[in-house]
Amino acid sequence: MELQQGRSILHRCARSGDVVHAGLVVTLLIGVWYAQALEVNTGKVHFVEVMNGSSVLLPCTYSSCIGIKNLYFNWQFKDNGTMVKLCEATIPAEGVEPNVKIYHERVEFVGSSKHSNISILLHNVTFEDQGEYICFARNPKEKERNHSAIFTLYVVDELKSAL
Ligand SMILES: *[C@@H]1O[C@H](CO)[C@@H](O)[C@H](O)[C@H]1NC(C)=O
Ligand SMILES: *[C@@H]1O[C@H](CO)[C@@H](O)[C@H](O)[C@H]1NC(C)=O
Ligand SMILES: *[C@@H]1O[C@H](CO)[C@@H](O)[C@H](O)[C@H]1NC(C)=O
Ligand SMILES: *[C@@H]1O[C@H](CO)[C@@H](O)[C@H](O)[C@H]1NC(C)=O
Ligand SMILES: *[C@@H]1O[C@H](CO)[C@@H](O)[C@H](O)[C@H]1NC(C)=O
Repeated sequence: MELQQGRSILHRCARSGDVVHAGLVVTLLIGVWYAQALEVNTGKVHFVEVMNGSSVLLPCTYSSCIGIKNLYFNWQFKDNGTMVKLCEATIPAEGVEPNVKIYHERVEFVGSSKHSNISILLHNVTFEDQGEYICFARNPKEKERNHSAIFTLYVVDELKSAL
């Protein structure tokens, strides 16, 4: 599977007030929309360190200038090189809550499409949970372009970190 780093380019939806040389800018903006129609983002910090036994939020949000329709997303864990799907869902339209299928007993979906939030909680973290978590999304409005962002989880020993 091909993965792209969704967080690499900071961009904002263009406002009409920004248009100076209308013809040229419009052309450029269309280019930008095509290139950056959807973004997924795990926030400013791309990793977190937690103690075993605790619960951790794996954050992910999306944004789109052209709007979403049937936005598909999933979370995957890179377990020793193999991608394991933790959950997946389709958001029918903006503001409509997804019906999330969960494939992992300690994963809870805590996002809300009202806030473009597709974060999950991982409960009772174990040392085996350490690794890379991939938030993946695809907006059919943009053909089959894939977007993803990686969040890394480090698990530390409760006893050692208490010293
Ligand atoms: C965390 O790991 C330590 C050492 O492996 C263990 O003693 C402790 O019980 C664990 N804590 C939890 C909450 O699982
Ligand atoms: C990771 O994969 C390698 C090679 O497939 C295997 O030898 C090893 O036991 C695996 N480790 C774990 C923790 O599953
Ligand atoms: C987490 O561990 C606690 C204590 O062992 C247990 O009661 C709880 O059901 C676990 N939660 C999940 C989501 O596995
Ligand atoms: C996403 O939702 C979770 C759960 O409500 C919240 O803790 C988190 O801060 C939200 N993230 C963002 C970027 O809004
Ligand atoms: C997007 O990901 C899917 C698997 O989730 C894959 O089948 C498809 O080929 C990918 N598309 C592109 C353009 O990378």
